[in-house]
Amino acid sequence: MRQKLVAGNWKLNGSKATIEPLVSGILTGLKGLDNVAVAVCPPYVYIPMTQGLLSGGRIGLGSQDIADQETGAFTGEVSGAMLKEFGCSYAIVGHSERRAIYGEQDGDTARKFAAARKHGLKPILCVGETLEERESGITEAVVARQLDAVIALEGVEALTDGVIAYEPVWAIGTGKTASPQQAQDVHAFIRGKLAALNESVAAKVQILYGGSVKGANAAELFAMPDIDGGLIGGASLDAQEFLAICKAGN
Ligand code: G3P
Repeated sequence: MRQKLVAGNWKLNGSKATIEPLVSGILTGLKGLDNVAVAVCPPYVYIPMTQGLLSGGRIGLGSQDIADQETGAFTGEVSGAMLKEFGCSYAIVGHSERRAIYGEQDGDTARKFAAARKHGLKPILCVGETLEERESGITEAVVARQLDAVIALEGVEALTDGVIAYEPVWAIGTGKTASPQQAQDVHAFIRGKLAALNESVAAKVQILYGGSVKGANAAELFAMPDIDGGLIGGASLDAQEFLAICKAGN
């Protein structure tokens, strides 16, 4: 039985004034919810502050991206070594917004996955199709291509050092959550693809769903056999909503 993981991706949100009550509210509400794994991924500049607020407790700390270089003339980048120094244990890689807005390619994502692993961070590998790709019937081909880039570079076994997050782009921030069956179908495809390469990896790897997860829909999503938790955007910025999702995963 795979433990559920609920990770909050705060995206470009937060301030010193809002992060403290958000984190303390989550910490307080998590008491008694001992079965679900929880993580939060602040913007880079708030990672040190959030590390202090989490004070090594049960909530994991993650970044929303990571450099695939180690050091040098890469303005604006933040390396895995730097993230590790500030207590990160996760790094989101290949988020659809990095891919669509900032032009990240599958190869970039694969190298970021490798960089995270190199520094003992658990990469949260985001995959997912656009509405146009879904309507064109190529959802599985897109997801397979995104996974293959990482498998080609790191090997299928490496996936158990990370977490996969299936995030249909058309469900992100739209309120148009994939139905539990729609999500389960793609999660089952991912797990089946991995099983064809390595059954042990397929059985072990956590596959999260992301895309308009809320307290009201989390339980039915998490009840699906191949959904192992959620990568949460908007709802992660409200302590009570995020806790409702964590409760669904507990
Ligand atoms: O990374 C999680 C995010 O893309 C989902 O966003 O706001 O639809 O929960 P949201």
